[in-house]
Amino acid sequence: TGTRTFFIGGNHKMNGSKSMLESLSKGMNESVESKENVEIFIAPSYPYLDFLSSRLDNKKFKVSGQNCYSVAKGAFTGEISANMLVDLGIPYVIIGHSERRNVFGESTDLITKKTKYAISLGLTVILCLGEQLDDRKSSKTEKVLSDQLKDFASFTPEEWSKIVIAYEPVWAIGTGVVATPQEAQDTHVFIRKWISENVSEDVAKKTSIMYGGSVNAENCQNLSKQSDIDGFLVGGASLIAADFITIINSAV
Ligand code: G3P
Repeated sequence: TGTRTFFIGGNHKMNGSKSMLESLSKGMNESVESKENVEIFIAPSYPYLDFLSSRLDNKKFKVSGQNCYSVAKGAFTGEISANMLVDLGIPYVIIGHSERRNVFGESTDLITKKTKYAISLGLTVILCLGEQLDDRKSSKTEKVLSDQLKDFASFTPEEWSKIVIAYEPVWAIGTGVVATPQEAQDTHVFIRKWISENVSEDVAKKTSIMYGGSVNAENCQNLSKQSDIDGFLVGGASLIAADFITIINSAV
């Protein structure tokens, strides 16, 4: 990963409770030591953002939104504003998760708008990309990723400095079928090459690319050794303190 920051995020999706977050925070506060160039965050379900933030050691850990909308406020029932995340002192937001794209039908166009807006307020966006199983089987992975990235070619280097990519192959999410270290490494290299050719070589070198999809306490070691894997976005295993702590400790 060189000089790039290694990010480890727990994406709780629609899971968790006060008691679960209480014991997870306790375990993490006690067992994790800060490392230089490693950023750790948890994205809890929205109602718990403030609760979790008040229990985690904020010197070691940050909290993140799981999504946000592209305008400040108004009549948008069920939506969360990036301005509210800023108001709560939250530095990160996940945008474009495959569940937002595929379960809730969010378009690449909307995801680009939301990313641009969140960045303009100073949030760092964890921008998720990934192909479906059929895409991989029919050798369309690179085409799908290029399409998901294409609107970001016009983002400035300043805007890119607020983007962290999370590559999450849809076939690996929640399935127990993790990408092999080589598959993940090769795809990360492709994404970095895309950034180099469409934005700049400097931005490509500096942008952290996390991997997500069935990361667990066993497979994290070999994945984290790959030179273009700059972190993990973890779903299921981030709900279990011991497993998430092991994954955090695999950071290189
Ligand atoms: O955002 C993380 C996620 O989609 C991966 O989920 O449960 O396969 O680790 P999981």
